[in-house]
Amino acid sequence: EPAPAATLVIFGGVGDLSRRLLTPALVNLTRDGLIGADLSIVVVSRGPDAQFEKELEEHLDLADKPTKTAWATRCKKLSYYQGEFDDPATFEGLAKQLSGNVAFYLATAASFFGPVAQSLAKAGLLKETEGFRRVVVEKPFGHDLASAKALNKTLLSVMDETQIFRIDHFLGKETVQNIMVARFGNAFLEAVWNARYIDHVEITAAETVDVGTRGAFYDATGAMRDMVPNHLFQLLAMVGMEPPNSFDAEAVRNEKVKLLQAVRVPTPKEAKVDAVRGRYAGGTIAGKKVVPYLKAADVAKGSTTETYVAMKLMVDSWRWAGVPFYLRTGKALAARDTEIVIQFKPIALAMFRNTDISKIPPNKLVIQIQPNEGLDLHFNAKVPGPVVDTKEVCMAFRYADNFDLGHRTGYETLLYDVLIGDQSLFQRADQVERGWQIVQPILNAWDKGGEPEDYEAGSEGPAGADALLERDGRTWHPVA
Ligand code: BG6
Repeated sequence: EPAPAATLVIFGGVGDLSRRLLTPALVNLTRDGLIGADLSIVVVSRGPDAQFEKELEEHLDLADKPTKTAWATRCKKLSYYQGEFDDPATFEGLAKQLSGNVAFYLATAASFFGPVAQSLAKAGLLKETEGFRRVVVEKPFGHDLASAKALNKTLLSVMDETQIFRIDHFLGKETVQNIMVARFGNAFLEAVWNARYIDHVEITAAETVDVGTRGAFYDATGAMRDMVPNHLFQLLAMVGMEPPNSFDAEAVRNEKVKLLQAVRVPTPKEAKVDAVRGRYAGGTIAGKKVVPYLKAADVAKGSTTETYVAMKLMVDSWRWAGVPFYLRTGKALAARDTEIVIQFKPIALAMFRNTDISKIPPNKLVIQIQPNEGLDLHFNAKVPGPVVDTKEVCMAFRYADNFDLGHRTGYETLLYDVLIGDQSLFQRADQVERGWQIVQPILNAWDKGGEPEDYEAGSEGPAGADALLERDGRTWHPVA
């Protein structure tokens, strides 16, 4: 069903996010009939830019006919609005030309989120008298717990929670949305989805890309802030949450927050021993030499920013008591692989001749988020022959074999949901704050001094991450 008529106002509308993801997503939605000619787009940017239409085309495949047609539809209702984000005149001008349903997308530097929201309110643009008024806030949402709380306070002082759409683009991924269907759309998983049968859970987001040209942003951010309280905790919440009573946004978000509330906030001592930070040194990835992080462009001299983090978290709930959740993420690693490993407990007794229990690996369910989207169930089978021997085999479901994932950006569903007003895939204020609260003791411990542990670019990460699991008698599932 197409979204209602509206205007989408994109602040920072010719920036990288807009070119790479938002414009292609809006074109895909148009092609698929989910937004129509009654959606106007206003691109707000600072300088004069006669070329903006050309710039927004950068990542569109205009050789593809449906894309070309959809883009032509968009261009008819596409306009450019020049204005500084901190000038009241920008907002007064917008107020004169906007009416009806409006969604404001803040694709700006994070420092503008609060001020732009306040200016929108001052100009009367957030009053929902003649249609909806919604504000989409990109990441990073705060730099720590205090700043995230302050930003929530600012936003909530000028609008209602129902008007705020805090983006976490991981929730736009089909494979992430599928976690709920896998768990609650099937009977066989939920029965064993608990501490009785599960030994531990691993959540990995490994990337091969290095910091590249993002040095200025990344050096002030680091792997923890960039990935953990947002993206990895979304995965943690999806895997760990109780079944919601319905698929309603509030029901789903309540359960996610409940799970995060059960995550034990590390004590200062746990913050030191249960978290590992790493930083890539030189090395080679896919035959290409990687510049060590400390020598990358715009990285401060003497920087102690981490490019890798691994940690162990405990969830104090009936379902998960005693089951460790191990999380890790990093840049310049051997492979790109985002996955969740559910490691089941070993069998109770090895009864087969010629086998001892240590030769029968525990079952594993691997949820492959990307790039090899799917689900893999690792289990044991009898090796054919007169002697009873077992071997681990794998049953694999691949998206590519069953569905056409098409060329989607991951932003289609999110943008559509903003326009139809479905907040299920957006973070509520309490969820964002709880995420920061959990990682804050670790950030505090790191602030006190010390350095990340070096790892070779193109490796699997720092030795400390392996030691974290070895201490518990475990090893990481190898990344693809
Ligand atoms: C972004 C981070 O939010 O997510 C990047 O800022 C990271 O550093 C990216 O590379 C990962 O997203 P994806 O969709 O490529 O897994």
